[in-house]
Amino acid sequence: MERGAEEIYELGELDLREFERIAKKIGEMLEGGETVLLFGDLGSGKTTFVKSMADGLGIDRDYVRSPTFNIVNSYPRLSSRKEDNENPVEVERPGLIHVDLYRVESEEEMLDLALHDLVDLDTVVAVEWPELYVKYVSQPYLIVRLEHCDESTRSVRIEPHGRKMKSLLNRLVTIINEDERREGE
Ligand SMILES: Nc1ncnc2c1ncn2[C@@H]1O[C@H](COP(=O)(O)OP(=O)(O)OP(=O)(O)O)[C@@H](O)[C@H]1O
Ligand SMILES: [Mg+2]
Repeated sequence: MERGAEEIYELGELDLREFERIAKKIGEMLEGGETVLLFGDLGSGKTTFVKSMADGLGIDRDYVRSPTFNIVNSYPRLSSRKEDNENPVEVERPGLIHVDLYRVESEEEMLDLALHDLVDLDTVVAVEWPELYVKYVSQPYLIVRLEHCDESTRSVRIEPHGRKMKSLLNRLVTIINEDERREGE
């Protein structure tokens, strides 16, 4: 992975397995209150990325469907019990709100959705086709840029905005490099 001067992380050309693994890892690291903006052409992998992120949040990826027609889908937060010690604790994971602005034609129509009101500390908001929203989004947020390389690979670039996201990306890079090192052994 290469890290650019502007804190743009080039993850390179990923096959589906690597792509899903990284998106899931990001889902595992999110705490709630973050927005993820997904840029990329038709079929570049935006919904696939959100499904894997959902997986990392503990949400069944098969429930996650592209909200192209209803624009906003929401998946409730889950809690699970950690039973591995004598004092089990409830672990709360953030819920997911999945937005697709493909069919939204004007800034006015987009503002009517009041996406800001959906952002709270218990929720991760993921937005496909975020062109109309990007100038209104507040930190912390991630920009994910996806491009077709060929049928089975996609290039992935990630830009973190806000201190929390920068530190998340730093940790992600450490994990990816560690995994690569282990695979190379
Ligand atoms: N390396 C890869 N990374 C991601 N997706 C891949 C990869 N290789 C193949 N694919 C496939 O490409 C397709 C991407 O479709 P997806 O619905 O995620 O795209 P999208 O960007 O959400 O499209 P849309 O703009 O229509 O919403 C999926 O069928 C996925 O399995
Ligand atoms: Mg999609």
